[in-house]
Amino acid sequence: MAFAGQVVWITGASSGIGAAMARALAAQGAKLVLSGRNEAALAELARNCGDALVLPFEATDYAAAASAAKKAWNWQGHIDMLVNNAGISQRSLAVDTAFEVYERIVAVDLLAPIALTQALLPRMAERKSGRIVMVSSIAGKVGSPMRTGYSAAKFGLFGYSDALRAEVAGLGIKVHVIAPGSIRTDVSRNAITADGSRRGVSDKAIENGLDPADAVDQMLSAIAADEREIIMGEGMEKEIGELRRTPDALHDRMAAVVAAGYAQKMDEGASE
Ligand SMILES: NC(=O)c1ccc[n+]([C@@H]2O[C@H](COP(=O)([O-])OP(=O)(O)OC[C@H]3O[C@@H](n4cnc5c(N)ncnc54)[C@H](OP(=O)(O)O)[C@@H]3O)[C@@H](O)[C@H]2O)c1
Repeated sequence: MAFAGQVVWITGASSGIGAAMARALAAQGAKLVLSGRNEAALAELARNCGDALVLPFEATDYAAAASAAKKAWNWQGHIDMLVNNAGISQRSLAVDTAFEVYERIVAVDLLAPIALTQALLPRMAERKSGRIVMVSSIAGKVGSPMRTGYSAAKFGLFGYSDALRAEVAGLGIKVHVIAPGSIRTDVSRNAITADGSRRGVSDKAIENGLDPADAVDQMLSAIAADEREIIMGEGMEKEIGELRRTPDALHDRMAAVVAAGYAQKMDEGASE
């Protein structure tokens, strides 16, 4: 019951991994802010999640994200954990794919989580506490065919998060990135194709993937154990992800360099 009483904001809560995470956290007694675009699905979920605020918005409406951040924070006076989970996948060869598809995927999968994180960060820094969770993918560790845009965006989440982790380690803020392999959701049905249209059918790999409730239990245990990179999946997917794991020692070293830089800046400030 690591999250009992905690205020957790989940994006992409209307479906799949986000909905399963909301149910698991509600069972632990967490208070939930539930976001996505499908208001009816969010409201239905909220009915079974105890203390919950439904806060729908389009993830790429960055102005709406900033005002949603204010509403979410003010609901209980703080947020303990932001889970940037909303995302769309891709199924198309690069050679066929319209540039607008890349713009859309990068907007939803990379810029939207950055925008939301940036909107909450000053408040978390002032409170000197919080967790930021990014839901990336094994495709964010290893470039995956038919997913050039998706891999680019999901790799980007690692770059942003690794740098951010080093910057905020001294502020009591923890940054986690989850790289799931296949989980049985609508992700590949909702994936976009070369012309930006919804794919509409699923994959064998996804249909044979982890059950979302089991996957979410693993994710939450790993977050509670303060794991920074959470590489999940079975067989080959897990092995490939593990090959690309960033060693904890490197994260610690980056954080130490940043901390030394802050100390030096403060010394310089004091001597002026
Ligand atoms: N399932 C897997 O095998 C797998 C593997 C690796 C990573 N992931 C990642 O896990 C995350 C969750 O995916 P899922 O598997 O649960 O798929 P899903 O069932 O398709 O859920 C995607 C969620 O993202 C939200 N979303 C998508 N576009 C949005 C937008 N423009 N604005 C606001 N919300 C938006 C959707 O909400 P609305 O429709 O209500 O807007 C939905 O709740 C994604 O980031 C995905 O890339 C999944």
